[in-house]
Amino acid sequence: MQSPFISKKGFFFIFMYQTKDMKKVLIIFAHPMEQKSRVNRELIDAVDGMDHVTINNLYERYPDFFIDVKYEQGLLLKHDVIIWHHPFYWYSAPALLKEWFDLVLEHGFAYGKDANALKGKKVMNCITTGGREATYAAGGLNRYPIDNYLLPFNQSAHLCKMKYLKPFVVHGVHLLTKEEIENYKIQYKQLIKKLGNGDQ
Ligand SMILES: Cc1cc2nc3c(=O)[nH]c(=O)nc-3n(C[C@H](O)[C@H](O)[C@H](O)COP(=O)(O)O)c2cc1C
Repeated sequence: MQSPFISKKGFFFIFMYQTKDMKKVLIIFAHPMEQKSRVNRELIDAVDGMDHVTINNLYERYPDFFIDVKYEQGLLLKHDVIIWHHPFYWYSAPALLKEWFDLVLEHGFAYGKDANALKGKKVMNCITTGGREATYAAGGLNRYPIDNYLLPFNQSAHLCKMKYLKPFVVHGVHLLTKEEIENYKIQYKQLIKKLGNGDQ
């Protein structure tokens, strides 16, 4: 039935206006054991299909570790916000994401004199950790706050003239209840929506 307040054409224009102005978010997902994932898979499923979101699953795309550098650089150029989404492995990222850093963030493209391809883009980590939040503090097993361990990402972003945002961290994944995981999915989806609206 035709709305008394707005025509079909009006709906179409409002829809076009909303999606056109959304910031484009690229999620670079790196999980070598995705089939066993309890939390990351759920987080990815929560945001999969959002209009302004591209999910680039590195282990699915490059099972042999041969990264298509030009393709990856092209993806970066087409997006406004980049998310390095991965489980926290040995206080860092799984190996293929490190390979991605080594090859894709090339001198002359990502950093160096007159290299401004990534300038002004926003970037952040989305990570899950086995260690509970309390362990990432002085006196805890992991001794230092999680932000300390993420400094190489933060500094890499800085070198590439990108703006490093506060990370989205899910701690103690093995102890989370289904309800807690559901809650994190809602939070992640809200964050991705905000990033799309430029509110974050
Ligand atoms: C090789 C490996 C290294 C890991 N290193 C860490 C670590 O440094 N700190 C930590 O808190 N958890 C560590 N973990 C636990 C993972 O972060 C945890 O299993 C993962 O976040 C679970 O996410 P998922 O349910 O999506 O697989 C490690 C796990 C593996 C398999």
